[in-house]
Order: sequence, then C-alpha cells, then structure tokens
Amino acid sequence: MKSTEQEKTEIYRSILPQAKALLANEKDLIANMANLSAILKYSFHFLWVGFYTVKEGGLVLGPFQGPVACTRIGYGKGVCGTAWKNKETLIVPNVGEFPGHIACNPESRSEIVIPFERKEFAGVLDIDSDCMDGFDRTDEFYLKQILGFII
Ligand code: SME
Repeated sequence: MKSTEQEKTEIYRSILPQAKALLANEKDLIANMANLSAILKYSFHFLWVGFYTVKEGGLVLGPFQGPVACTRIGYGKGVCGTAWKNKETLIVPNVGEFPGHIACNPESRSEIVIPFERKEFAGVLDIDSDCMDGFDRTDEFYLKQILGFII
C-alpha cells in the first residue's frame, strides 16, 4: 500500500527521534543497519528494506527485513550497482522500465536506492515497494537524514 505525501512525512517525522535515540550512540554498523532496516520496514508498508555493502569490488547483501534477496550485485549492475557507480540516489518509479533491473522479488514495482560512502565503509540503502511510483524526493530527504545517524 502506498502512503500519501502527508502520511509519509508524518511517519518520517515521528521515527526521526526514535531512530536517532536508537542509532546515534551505537557505533557498530551491522547492529545499526539491522535496526534501521527494522524501523523502516515496520513503520511503512515497504516490501523490502536493506543494505548492500561494498566488499571485494562488489555489493554484498547486508542486514535487511523482507523476503530473501540476491546475495551479490556487481558494480554498475541493477539499480543498486548503478546508484553505487554513479554515487547518486536512484528513484525508480517502475522497475520494469529500468534496464538491467535485478528482480530479486517478482512483487517489487518501484524502488529507491541511496548510496553512501565513508573512509572504510561504503554501500547502499535499498528499499523496494510493491506499488508503482512508491518513492519520491521526500523519501530521499528523510532517509538521508536517518542514514546520517549511522554513517
Ligand atoms: N532491485 C535491486 C536488487 C536488490 S533487491 O531488490 C533486494 C537492483 O536492481 O539493484
């Protein structure tokens, strides 16, 4: 189910302090990625929320909430690999129209992928929706703030 613009803004605003309290004082990235995936998955009606991190020149599946996903994604491959390569957020309103989209789950219709990069740690936050056009710049705005608590 897709949230309205007002609903999603209210949800993001309500989880910001919760996410900050839970994540900002913990420095273990795996623990934080796991809890952040859970916060987002259970606050919204997302199909899949999770992380891929850069290892040995590719993206490897990290903490997530949702159905089983592909384990490895190459540089420049799929939405995740493209967002990582281009170092910019990708909002895909219809995954069927994204050349090379990696269909881990047949129910996925749209997604947002936000890459992050720090000295010794890089990867992407990937969120999938079973609705077309599930994400916009409001999601990017708040998700980047929340990501800032852990990265
Ligand atoms: N959709 C992604 C693959 C990862 S799964 O959706 C969890 C992509 O094309 O990069």
